[in-house]
Order: sequence, then structure tokens, then C-alpha cells
Amino acid sequence: MDWHIDDYKAEFLRIYNENIHRAGADKLLEWLTNKSDFFYAPASTKFHSNRMGGLCEHSVKAYYRFIQNLQNEYEESEEGWEGVLSPESAAIIALLHDLCKVNTYKVDYRNVKVNGEWVQKPYYTTEDELPYGHGEKSVYMISGFMRLSREEAMAINWHMGAYDLRVQGGSYALSDAFYKFPTALLFHIADVQTTYLDETVDK
Ligand SMILES: [Fe+2]
Ligand SMILES: [Fe+2]
Repeated sequence: MDWHIDDYKAEFLRIYNENIHRAGADKLLEWLTNKSDFFYAPASTKFHSNRMGGLCEHSVKAYYRFIQNLQNEYEESEEGWEGVLSPESAAIIALLHDLCKVNTYKVDYRNVKVNGEWVQKPYYTTEDELPYGHGEKSVYMISGFMRLSREEAMAINWHMGAYDLRVQGGSYALSDAFYKFPTALLFHIADVQTTYLDETVDK
């Protein structure tokens, strides 16, 4: 799949508009498009999809992985995965899980030598004006526009799994969350699969 930044944006909008119909969803999309850098931001400063549009690309790819994981896990169940999680919830979780990264990346420049000449090379730094955390911040931001179900909030809140700083600080809540909300675990796995199997790093 050799897609351009605009292709990921179009695909994000297609998945969003086909699946998410909740009150407030239109306002959230309007904010993402006009008041945020969501469609231009990178997914990280120097790790996965560290380029313009990387955040949108990561979110779309996480959606594909999540649907795949849901299909694999619930293929035996009578109504399939849609009997366990609604397509609307799947889209909300995957497309919006990293909203916390919106408006936090800044472009800076460093001097590097290319063929004996000093040139200015752009790189990303972060400046978080709303230091609320990671998954918990995404939940907070989305909730400003629309109501999340318990299952959606859990999956978004805990999407970092054991990489979450709360877990590293000693919290045991994560494993309780994964036992009680298995779709949260399936999404965490999708997030990791996307990051390491489907995305690239620009050096
Ligand atoms: Fe994340
Ligand atoms: Fe992510």
C-alpha cells in the first residue's frame, strides 16, 4: 500500500462518516479538521510514522488491525465480532485513541553537515499544553464533544498497555481492565502491531 497523506485523510473520513453517527461526532470532526493539526501531525517525534500525516496514518492502520483482531477472536461466536462490539465503537476507539497527540508537535531545526555544507534539518519536538496523560487525555478530549460508552473509554484509556506510565508506576488496574474488557486488550495489541509491523521510521 503506497499511500499519500491525502489518501489516509480520505480513508479516515470514510471510516469516520460511515460508522460514527453519535451526537457530537460532527462537531468533533469539525474541530479535528479546522482547529487541530490532526491530519498533518506526526505520530511520534522520532519513532513510528514520525512524519507529516503520520498520526492520521497510524490511526487508520490501527483500525484495520483492530478489525482483524476482533474477527480472529470472535469468528466462532454466532453474531461475529459485531455481536461483541459495535462497528461504531470499533471506529471510535481506533480512529480517536491518540487524540492526546493533537496540537503537541512543533517543528524545530538543527544544523547538520551534508556534503561538507551546514544545512538546517527540520525535526519534531513536543510541547503539551494540556499535560493530562496519554490514553486518559484522549478520553477527556473526546468527552468534550461526545459521550463515550464504558467499553470505548476503557479501550482508549488503557491502549498503551504495559507501556502506560501509570502501570510502570505500580498500578494494577490494567490487568483488571483487560479481564473485564477484552476488546481493550485486542485494541492495545492492534496499536502495537500497527506501530511495529505496519509503520516505518524516518531517520
Ligand atoms: Fe497512544
Ligand atoms: Fe496509537
